[in-house]
Amino acid sequence: MSRSAHPAGPRYADVLPEGHYTAPPADLNTLDPRVWSRTVARTTDGAAQVGGLDVRHLAEEFGTPAYILDEADFRARCRAWREAFGEDADVFYAGKAFLSRAVVRWLHEEGLNLDVCTGGELAVALSAGMPAERIALHGNNKSAEEIERAVTAGVGRIVLDSFQEIVRVADIARKHGKRQRVQIRVTVGVEAHTHEFIATAHEDQKFGFSLSGGDASEAVRRVLTLPSLELIGIHSHIGSQIFDTSGFEVAAHRVVGLLKQVRDEHGVELPEIDLGGGLGIAYTPDDDPREPHEIAKALGEIVTRESASAGLTAPRLSVEPGRAIVGPTAFTLYEVGTIKPLEGLRTYVSVDGGMSDNIRTALYDAEYTVALVSRASDAEPMLSRVVGKHCESGDIVVRDAFLPADLAPGDLIAVPATGAYCRSMASNYNHAMRPPVVAVADGEARVIVRRETEEDLLRLDVG
Ligand code: LLP
Repeated sequence: MSRSAHPAGPRYADVLPEGHYTAPPADLNTLDPRVWSRTVARTTDGAAQVGGLDVRHLAEEFGTPAYILDEADFRARCRAWREAFGEDADVFYAGKAFLSRAVVRWLHEEGLNLDVCTGGELAVALSAGMPAERIALHGNNKSAEEIERAVTAGVGRIVLDSFQEIVRVADIARKHGKRQRVQIRVTVGVEAHTHEFIATAHEDQKFGFSLSGGDASEAVRRVLTLPSLELIGIHSHIGSQIFDTSGFEVAAHRVVGLLKQVRDEHGVELPEIDLGGGLGIAYTPDDDPREPHEIAKALGEIVTRESASAGLTAPRLSVEPGRAIVGPTAFTLYEVGTIKPLEGLRTYVSVDGGMSDNIRTALYDAEYTVALVSRASDAEPMLSRVVGKHCESGDIVVRDAFLPADLAPGDLIAVPATGAYCRSMASNYNHAMRPPVVAVADGEARVIVRRETEEDLLRLDVG
C-alpha cells in the first residue's frame, strides 16, 4: 500500500506523461555526490546536513528560500584548478557565475585571478581587496566609465571586443599616461554543443573578432600601432556547459595559428593565450563532466604541440572557469507550499521561490534534480514538477523529478548545483526579495549576501 498523502497523484508505475525524466532513482533518499556538494550527507535521523550543519537549523535561522554554499567545496575546486594548471598558467574565476566579497577573498587566498565583465563586478572585486593586476575586464560594450575605472585601478588586462573599443581603451590609457595590457577576443568558429544562448564562438553573434573573416588579424594590426596598448595575447571563449574537450582543442589550435601569423607578419611573439571558461558540470547524474586535470592536460598538450610545430615559444595559458568552480558548491533550500496532484500527469509542488531565484530552467530549458532534505522517506516516488510562486506558468524550477509521495507542506526540499548563474541572475520579479547566500564550513554558517527586505525594495522606489 502506498503511504501517499496525495492518493490522487500519479505514481511512476502508472501512466508516464511526456517529460525529461528517466526512471526514478532506486532510493529517493540518496544524495548523489555527482550533483551535491562535497560535505552534503544525511544525518542519522534522515535530514540532510552540509558543512556539519543540519538543513532544518539553517532554514530556521536564515529562512527559505536560501542558497547554501559549501565553502570547503568551493576552496577545494579552486585548488583543483590551480593544481591542474600549475605554475605556468593562470586561472581566472569568472565572476559572472557568482560574485561576492567573501568569494573574492577565498579566490585571493587560493591563488586564483578574477574575470569581471561590468563595473559592478569590478567594484566588488576591488572592494574585497583583489589586487587589480589579477583582474581581467571583459565585455562587448564596456562603457567609457568602466574602462576608465579599470585603467586607473590598474587591471592586469582588458579584453578588447570591437574596433571602436580598441580606440576607446587606447585613448583612455593615453589620457592617464598608462600603457594598458590588453588581449584581443577572437571568435574561432567552433560550434559548441550547448544551448544557443550560451555558445559564443560561432560567427553570427555579438562577441569578439572573427578569425576566419580577417577581423582578428586587423585588430592585431591596429592594436600594435597604439603605444598606449600592450598586446599580451589572444582570448577565446567558445561557450558554456561543454562536456568534451574537442571544442577547446580546436580553439587552441586556431588561436596558436593566429599567434604564428602575428609572428610572421609583425615579428612579434605574443606571450599569452586565454581559452576562456565553459567546462560543464553535473546538474543531474546523467551529466558526465570533465575534471580540471583532464582539461588542463588536453589544453597543455595541444598548446605545446602546436606552438612547437609553429616554431613559437609556448605562450602562457589562462582559463576562466566560473560554473565549474561555484556551480556544484551550492544548493537552493526551499519550503514546500501547496501541492497539487494532477491525475495522469504529475504533481505540482510549489515552493517559496521560483524563477526569480533560478531563471535557468525557463531560459535554457536547464535540468535539475531535487530531494526532500528535512527528513528521509520511504514513500514511493511521485512524479513531480517543482514550481515557484510567480504569476506565470513558465515559472518552473525543476521540470521533472521524483519526490516521495508523502511530501507535505512545510517539508524542506533542495535543488543541488545552483551555485552558478542562479543568485547572479536572480531578479525581483513580482517584487520577490532575492534570497541570501549562506556560506557553511566546519559547523559554522554565515550570511555572505543577505536576504533582500521590503525596505530594500522600497528604497529603490523613490516615488
Ligand atoms: N569567460 C568568458 C569570457 C565568458 O563569457 C564566460 C561565461 C566565462 C568565462 C565563464 O563560463 P563558465 O565557465 O561559467 O561556463 N548564464 C548562462 C551562462 C552564461 C555564460 C556567459 N559567459 C547559464 O546560466 O548557463
